[in-house]
Amino acid sequence: MAASPARVTAPEIASRKGSETPLVMITAYDAPTARTVDGAGADMILVGDTLAMVVLGYDDTLQVTTADMAHHVGAVARTKPHALVVGDLPWLSYHVSTQETVQNAASLIRAGAGAVKLEGGRKRLGAIQAILDAEIPVMGHIGLTPQSIHALGGFKVQGKELDAAKIIADDAVALAEAGCFAIVLECVPDGVARMITDAVPVPTIGIGAGRHCDGQVIVWHDVLGFSGPIRKAKFVREYAHLELDATMSLEEFCADVREGRYPSSAETYHMTDGMAEQLGLYGGEREPELAP
Ligand code: KIV
Repeated sequence: MAASPARVTAPEIASRKGSETPLVMITAYDAPTARTVDGAGADMILVGDTLAMVVLGYDDTLQVTTADMAHHVGAVARTKPHALVVGDLPWLSYHVSTQETVQNAASLIRAGAGAVKLEGGRKRLGAIQAILDAEIPVMGHIGLTPQSIHALGGFKVQGKELDAAKIIADDAVALAEAGCFAIVLECVPDGVARMITDAVPVPTIGIGAGRHCDGQVIVWHDVLGFSGPIRKAKFVREYAHLELDATMSLEEFCADVREGRYPSSAETYHMTDGMAEQLGLYGGEREPELAP
């Protein structure tokens, strides 16, 4: 296998602001999902705290810890992807003391991330500054911030009213001025995303924010049809139905086992004929072949 070219860096992503080709970020949580995202040529792999929902089965993202995130960042990073690995800082990992905030960000970097992401606007400038001071690139995330679902009253589109849109836009400008290398805009009207994209000098990466952002991010399980009973958001386009395909393939396996079609002779380690004879197995006959 050819060695993967040098990993994409946060400054390279920042330099793509306004480029004709939009940036692509897709989530991954382990080695197989990371290989598919990198193999597809995404610019960034986000080890998102959606881990809690799409992998671990929780109802929200509040259930994962920094240790959980580092565990999964490590699995993704060990595939040595070309894409930039962005580690998501979970709830309560950067709402704490400056020292703890930096330690938590550092544990995702030590696990193999090239940058971290955190949610929130001007309220989080202290945390962002401290992490940047430790030489760790930070991606912002505003609009619908799922770690605030209890405060926001649920997973709802944000910035629908003028005042709310202005707050989000001012937050975006503040995050860019603070030094974030890119900003995720989640579930805001496309006009708001466009206004912000025009106003900030760093790439905006949209999810449910229309097509005027500098890039798009999507959750692996959503785009590939592997989200189980989680309600599909309006912006999700499914390119495959992997959960259904996997279930149907495993049904075939179950039937093959139950009906004696698996394993075949070719899928079996055999003892030598001489040894079988000495042991008096199969009445001296060869074991009957199964259809391949
Ligand atoms: O955790 C995540 O997957 C995210 C994306 C939805 C942007 O933050």
